[in-house]
Amino acid sequence: MPKLGVNIDHVATLRQARRGQEPEPVLAALICEAAGADSIVAHLREDRRHIQDRDLFLLKKTVRTRLNLEMSVAAGIVEIACQVKPDQATLVPEKRQELTTEGGLDVISNFRKVRQAASILVKNDIEVSLFIDPDKKQIDAAKKSGVKMIELHTGRYADTKNKKEQDKYFRQLSEAVTYALKKGLVVNAGHGLNYSNVSRVARIKGIAELNIGYSIICRALLAGLDRAVREMKDLIK
Ligand code: PXP
Repeated sequence: MPKLGVNIDHVATLRQARRGQEPEPVLAALICEAAGADSIVAHLREDRRHIQDRDLFLLKKTVRTRLNLEMSVAAGIVEIACQVKPDQATLVPEKRQELTTEGGLDVISNFRKVRQAASILVKNDIEVSLFIDPDKKQIDAAKKSGVKMIELHTGRYADTKNKKEQDKYFRQLSEAVTYALKKGLVVNAGHGLNYSNVSRVARIKGIAELNIGYSIICRALLAGLDRAVREMKDLIK
């Protein structure tokens, strides 16, 4: 059974909408851990649209499971990662205009940059994972870069509404897992997984961890809304 890493970025997205103090991502991380999350995932984006530097330093102090920092290979971000020293860094591509991480890291075209960032992180005792598409050439390049872990991008499988296409992307994913395992890599997966599409992926043998954020935070919002309104109503009374 794969472990579950919970991405708390969107707790911070909500806080940043008001530039206020709530909801507190650090508190969210503790609740996720108490509920069984095996790791906490947070992405320090260069534009700081959700997670802030201060969140990371506090998460490092409070997270008891494992802290997995998603990050680009930009020098300034690598420097912060080396100060924070999360248990793991997952290198992702980053474009300013995108709504979320839209595709995997192109390790082939960015080989030197990726290898350099990975080696700095490893020297700082941070495990490194590369977030890549389920593509054999990218898996080969990841292996060649010296990392021991990858995360396969499940977005294509998760985002399509067409059953045939979904089956095709599922097969690609499944084959990529087998291929990467044979190369000796630890294989994680994530992106776009939700309450209706996760089971099939969770059944693929050999996936170490699934990283899920958006759907869990959305579910939390609606599952907790009834109670939140009742509590406010009681206070007004
Ligand atoms: N894994 C990686 C590398 C990601 O960049 C993201 C999105 O931040 C996720 C997993 C989680 O994706 P989602 O929020 O769609 O569950």
